[in-house]
Order: sequence, then C-alpha cells, then structure tokens
Amino acid sequence: MSPSGQCNLIAVTRPLNPAGKKHRFGKAWMHEHLNDAYVREPTRLGYRSRSAFKLIELAEKDKLLRRGMAVVDLGSAPGSWCQVLKERLGPQGRIIAVDMLPMAPVSGVTFVQADFSTDEGLAAVDAAVAGTPVDLVISDMAPNLSGIDTVDQARSVHLAELALEFASDVLQPSGDFVVKVFQGSGLADLQRTVAARFAKTYVRKPKASRDRSREVFIVAKQRLGDGAH
Ligand SMILES: C[S@@+](CC[C@H](N)C(=O)[O-])C[C@H]1O[C@@H](n2cnc3c(N)ncnc32)[C@H](O)[C@@H]1O
Repeated sequence: MSPSGQCNLIAVTRPLNPAGKKHRFGKAWMHEHLNDAYVREPTRLGYRSRSAFKLIELAEKDKLLRRGMAVVDLGSAPGSWCQVLKERLGPQGRIIAVDMLPMAPVSGVTFVQADFSTDEGLAAVDAAVAGTPVDLVISDMAPNLSGIDTVDQARSVHLAELALEFASDVLQPSGDFVVKVFQGSGLADLQRTVAARFAKTYVRKPKASRDRSREVFIVAKQRLGDGAH
C-alpha cells in the first residue's frame, strides 16, 4: 500500500531513486523491502501485487477455493486476487470484481468500477451479480489513509460492515466470507456480528501481511440461514 492507502503495482526493476533525491524511507525499510520474498516473488510469478500471497495462504488454510465457484472480489485493483481466483476456479468459475479505481482486465473476470460505499455503486454490483448464487465474497477493501488512527480505523470497520451486509444478501446458504479489517476499535463487535451469521469464524494474519500492518482478515465459513440475522 502506498502512504495514500492505495495498492500499487510492484515494479522492483525500476531504479529505486532515479532522481537522486533523498529516500523517503530509511535504510532499514529499504533492506526489508528488497529482501522481502513477498515483494520479489509476485513479479517473478506474474502476480500484480504481494496481496496474491495473502489470499493463497488464507485459501489453503481454510479451504476457500474450489473449481467452478462463483466469487465476488471487493476492492480488487490492481487484480492479484483476481489472478489467483482465475487460476484456482478454472474456466467454469464466475468472478465479479469491484473497485473504485480502474483495473487492467483479467481474462474471464467481470469488472465493475464503482464506489462500493455508495447506493449507486452497490446497485452496479448487484446488477452484475444478477441473482447468481454466490459461493464466496472476499473483501480486501482498504480506506485511503488519513494518518489519523481513529478515522482510519472507523473507515476500515465501515467498509468491512458494508461487505458483510452485501455478503449476507448474496451468499447462498453455506457460502463463505473473507474480509480485511484493521485491528482496533470495532473489530470485536464486527467479529461478534459475523459469528452470529456463519457457522465458524477465524481471525487470520497471513505471513504475507507485514507485521507492522494492522490488517487482519476475518474468515467466516458456512453462512447460516436467513433467521440468523
Ligand atoms: C489492498 S487494495 C486491494 C488489492 C487487491 N486485493 C489485489 O490483490 O490486487 C484495496 C483496494 O480497495 C479499494 N477500495 C477501497 N474503498 C473502496 C470502495 N469504497 N469501493 C470500491 N473499492 C474500494 C481501493 O481502491 C484499493 O484498490
């Protein structure tokens, strides 16, 4: 993530300091960055971002992906989760991806460019889903960081709540849900709400997620019937 909170394509082959300007990050950061396998490997393997490894790890741990599934990917740009989905779901899979930023096409993925937090954005996503029974909703949405912890925390929890409401509407019974949220105020309440709607819930911190990042993922398995919410 850049300091603005957006996810960037990783381009480690570019000169790191072409203008000869003083680095904004210290030597320790640069050392960690260059020696971080999760920075080097996505480029080698053709993934658009290190985030790919977070989904791969979550999916393997909790058996989330199967061939032929229908999946909605919220906060999809630049598209590495879509790339993983495409590989794991095969040609029969259905993938609907949503981001407020543009995303370069991933073959076989229906992309909706929309702000998911607005009524219009949600309506555009609903139109793309068009009543398809959805097996899995995953959200890697992250707010633009303001640098004010309480504000960023509230925004992260709000995006996760929106993803949960959407998942509760579109998931078929027994469908699964994965959502990123920052650790802090509101996480415990969100966890309780998720736990009331799914048979099993876990909080995961994938190895590919930097230790200093406050992000965790709630993984919820097997949506309960409508009486649960
Ligand atoms: C961490 S990045 C996602 C990375 C992606 N999973 C991947 O593997 O390439 C978070 C994304 O969430 C998107 N996002 C944040 N708020 C959003 C919103 N309200 N509606 C749609 N997308 C949003 C951002 O634009 C950003 O691209």
